[in-house]
Amino acid sequence: MNFNLKTNEKGNLSIGGKDTPELAEEFGTPLYVLDEDRIRENYKKLHNAFSSKYHDFKIYYACKANTNLAVLRILEEEGSCIDTVSPGEIYTSLLAGYSPERILYTGNNATNEELKYALSSGVRINLDSLSAMERLSNLPGSEGQEISFRVNPQVGAGHHDHCITGGDLSKFGIMEEEVVQMYQKAIDIGFKPIGIHSHIGSGILDPEPFKVAVHTLMDAAGHVNRELGIQFEFVDFGGGMGIPYEPQENLLDMEKFSQEIVDLFKEKLYQYNMGNPTLCLEPGRYIVGDASYLLTRINTVKQSYRKFIGVDAGFNTLLRPTMYGSYHHIVSANNPLEEPAQEIDIAGNICESGDLFARDRPMPVLEEGELLAILNAGAYAFSMSSQYNSRPRPSEVLVKDGNAEIIRERETFADLLNKQNVPVRLLK
Ligand code: LLP
Repeated sequence: MNFNLKTNEKGNLSIGGKDTPELAEEFGTPLYVLDEDRIRENYKKLHNAFSSKYHDFKIYYACKANTNLAVLRILEEEGSCIDTVSPGEIYTSLLAGYSPERILYTGNNATNEELKYALSSGVRINLDSLSAMERLSNLPGSEGQEISFRVNPQVGAGHHDHCITGGDLSKFGIMEEEVVQMYQKAIDIGFKPIGIHSHIGSGILDPEPFKVAVHTLMDAAGHVNRELGIQFEFVDFGGGMGIPYEPQENLLDMEKFSQEIVDLFKEKLYQYNMGNPTLCLEPGRYIVGDASYLLTRINTVKQSYRKFIGVDAGFNTLLRPTMYGSYHHIVSANNPLEEPAQEIDIAGNICESGDLFARDRPMPVLEEGELLAILNAGAYAFSMSSQYNSRPRPSEVLVKDGNAEIIRERETFADLLNKQNVPVRLLK
């Protein structure tokens, strides 16, 4: 796996036709660099794979992966729908030009205010519990509301325990054995059930558990159809499609994956006589994961009990290595294909020992002032960043055809103080 790294005539890493050392010079570091064409290619690859096998297929981009407005605009242009989990994501998606019927809201432990916001926005509401359904039904204007349920198909998968959202330990969705009863209740309340949903986890490279979930969800949908006569307008299998982060990991074979899922889907539609509902997926990582790079500059090379390379980003900038122990491939922007010559630790600038981007990582010889590129920084990277240690968040630029545009300005110290108030009695 060479991660599609492109070099230019100077031998430097190039993204979207832009020289990365020049980007770092112009915009400063740390810097997120997003490749517009890659986002579009990823979307098309997934969309073509499924829509060539089933006539009614929709992608609901899981915007929690990357909520930058430019990313949302690119995907809106591609024809994507959008998966949201909070009023903030609904607000952002509406602002980015998605019409309410292209927005699905799947809340978890949603408050009445959140349900009210979703209802008044006119977006599609996917319920996660009996409690949410009952509280929604108490809201004025909810009569006849179209709803779906998130079902926990008792199987989960993901790159880390924290990212498994199906199975006995998961807080998400309703139980498989209560599905018929729950849809009956929805009808009794006066709702109009139009869909069924599951999402079993994130970072899945092995299709087997995903197939089990499809099987189970389709059986559940079939039972609802048989017993209550509901013809679903859509069936949504969630997201979770993984990307390779480590060099030895393989790409998900999208042709094979889509064929297997669609075959299973069609078989079950036929078995239960379920008509032709829309088949939906909610990819986040698959669309944006490999489309962004985090550029960070080495400021310190330190030989302590171990050798440390110190950079100007930290887990406030990219949390995944610290939070999940996730591997992110790191290359020198000046020579991305150079062979390793040493094993070193690459550490951030946050005052915590867990602030490491890599431990014992084979890397070429690196010097102070050199620029590193951290790969696969498009999903759950900026969107999970913080101001911890009072460090302003970095800037994001979008590159295309050799041009770079700022799509998020670097925060300033003033942003650290945003919305704070000091009581008058404490003023000096
Ligand atoms: N749909 C629902 C309901 C979800 O909760 C998620 C992700 C997705 C779709 C998209 O999953 P994806 O296709 O991106 O795998 N912060 C973690 C990932 C958490 C994912 C949460 N839910 C990470 O950095 O790996």
